[in-house]
Amino acid sequence: MLQFEQVSFNYGTGSTIQEVSVAIRPGEFVALLGENGAGKSTLCRLGNGLLKPSSGTVRIQGQDTKTIKTSVAARSVGYLFQNPDRQLCQNTVREEILFGLDYALGDTADRAAEKERRCAEMLALFSLDGSRAPFGMSRGERQQVALASVLARKPSLLILDEPTTGLDYRECMTIMGIIARLHQEGTTILMISHDMEVVADFAERGLVLSKGRLIGDEPIKQMMKNKALLDKASLLPPQIPALALALGPGFEAVHTVEDLYALTEQLKGASHDRSA
Ligand SMILES: Nc1ncnc2c1ncn2[C@@H]1O[C@H](COP(=O)(O)OP(=O)(O)OP(=O)(O)O)[C@@H](O)[C@H]1O
Ligand SMILES: [Mg+2]
Repeated sequence: MLQFEQVSFNYGTGSTIQEVSVAIRPGEFVALLGENGAGKSTLCRLGNGLLKPSSGTVRIQGQDTKTIKTSVAARSVGYLFQNPDRQLCQNTVREEILFGLDYALGDTADRAAEKERRCAEMLALFSLDGSRAPFGMSRGERQQVALASVLARKPSLLILDEPTTGLDYRECMTIMGIIARLHQEGTTILMISHDMEVVADFAERGLVLSKGRLIGDEPIKQMMKNKALLDKASLLPPQIPALALALGPGFEAVHTVEDLYALTEQLKGASHDRSA
């Protein structure tokens, strides 16, 4: 789906990405983690072809981003910027969602009808009023408009640069619920996030960048308990894996609140049996 082969990149100010090799497979939900300035946004911009590597190769569905047509890359990869205001440029929510669909849909005979259909679908999905001006909306609402305009194009790979930063709990759950459903329906997700609770709850695999180098690539449950790796990248595990780590032997299988409840019930059952 998306391959980085020995990829390095610099903005002319020293090396930002250094020899990263990794493949994102179709249908995966991958979280990209790392401290501020580690190179996460840069790697994602290389992944959608916005930036070209200084050396090495990035392939989107097998095609080198140095030669792929921008329209083909835009059709396969949906990209949500770290700051929604970087991608919002229209006067109304409706225009924002329609904008870009021309490009994505190409010259199909029923393009006008399909654009309207997809716009209506997105307005309903996000419960948005199409006549509102994105400019006057809250940060969380603008983030939803930006995501709606990306999803309207129905990309097979979705790259999300901190989709929940600055959102309240309800807005965060709305956005993550929609992303989780897309993933269940087969969309491949690469998501940058500093919110380790969100990462632990939604992602399947984690990648860790540190100073432009890939220093970790593991199933997410394993990564949340890999203290050495998390410490190296200045990452704090979410509360439940941290608690399980602190409790030590006997708590290895505890990754989520549900695991903790199940173990508590087991322990209660065992002590009840002993006292009977
Ligand atoms: N357009 C640019 N020109 C020059 N240097 C840049 C540019 N964008 C980013 N950098 C530098 O590249 C490095 C990596 O930046 P990047 O934005 O990829 O990090 P990040 O991991 O996304 O950080 P954050 O968590 O703060 O978003 C940083 O040192 C940053 O200052
Ligand atoms: Mg960033």
